[in-house]
Amino acid sequence: MKLAVVGATGLVGQKMLEVLEERNFPLNTLLPVASERSVGKTVKFRGTEYVVISIDEAIRQNPEIAIFSAGGETSKKYAPLFAKQGTVVIDNSSAWRMEKNIKLVVPEINASQLTSQDKIIANPNCSTIQMVLVLAPLYRKFGIQRIVVSTYQSVTGTGKKALDQLQNERKGIQGEMAYPFQIDLNCIPQCDAFTENGYTKEEMKMVNETRKILDDEKIGITATTVRVPVIGGHSESVNLQLRAEFEINEIIKVLRETPGVIVLDDPSKSDYPMPITASGRDEVFVGRIRRDDSAPNSLNIWIVADNLRKGAATNAIQIAEYLVRNQLV
Ligand code: A2P
Repeated sequence: MKLAVVGATGLVGQKMLEVLEERNFPLNTLLPVASERSVGKTVKFRGTEYVVISIDEAIRQNPEIAIFSAGGETSKKYAPLFAKQGTVVIDNSSAWRMEKNIKLVVPEINASQLTSQDKIIANPNCSTIQMVLVLAPLYRKFGIQRIVVSTYQSVTGTGKKALDQLQNERKGIQGEMAYPFQIDLNCIPQCDAFTENGYTKEEMKMVNETRKILDDEKIGITATTVRVPVIGGHSESVNLQLRAEFEINEIIKVLRETPGVIVLDDPSKSDYPMPITASGRDEVFVGRIRRDDSAPNSLNIWIVADNLRKGAATNAIQIAEYLVRNQLV
């Protein structure tokens, strides 16, 4: 098994190497790929230094799987070149997610749709992944009428430059800016660029990707995505209106039984998830589960996950593991 990580020097790429190593992914040859700037540098994997190669060189070496996290432009241009020669691309960018014949996969929910014909597979947006993992079992049991979500997103979701901005601001160093404003001691109600309807791309990703993954165009969804000066993970306040009546205890039971989800919910002990709870963990955490009496069949929940792990690297690697386990590569 030869596997390329495209964007291996980036925050998600580095996390991918870590997760591949931790999960003992069955690969013999690792091809770490980055931009021309980084070719010849090294990255560490399983205690060995690997030399970073160019994307053209990786295509020449024809890996079975290429996991991309190097931005939409790189994915748009190069994923088809890998796919044409039979490499399965698992793409973490937004480039392919909403294409009709491309599957958008959270393994616990819909990996069973994958076949050996799928040569480009899309990894959903980090904020979408953690939300749908919690919502999917509730959708199956009760149906979902409407979702109102507000996010509190870590700077690591923007990449290395954003993490540097936050750390520089904390040290009083004047450096390169990833955001149009100071992020330390602030929050910025804009993740990604604005679209014509007044929502940001990140907000529309949450709307469109959730509908695609749950395979239901009728779900009402509205999102507000906010960048906060946090490093360890994304948090989400989700107001849900279900189609069927429910008891809060039933909701908690369903979520306790959901693989990959951990319920932390005991107000008497101030037990609820926070980014520091989720940091370094592959599970999605949920708490503050309570009825919303202001609308029928409604409740509020609070969802937290490490955005670089389940929101990106871990989900992508779980897709790769599914492909290997089911002999689809
Ligand atoms: P590089 O480090 O050489 O710029 P982040 O989102 O954390 O900034 O990471 C982006 C990742 O994508 C980095 O590994 C970056 O490499 C890589 N990258 C950016 N552009 C390209 C490209 N055209 N080809 C391959 N890798 C790229």
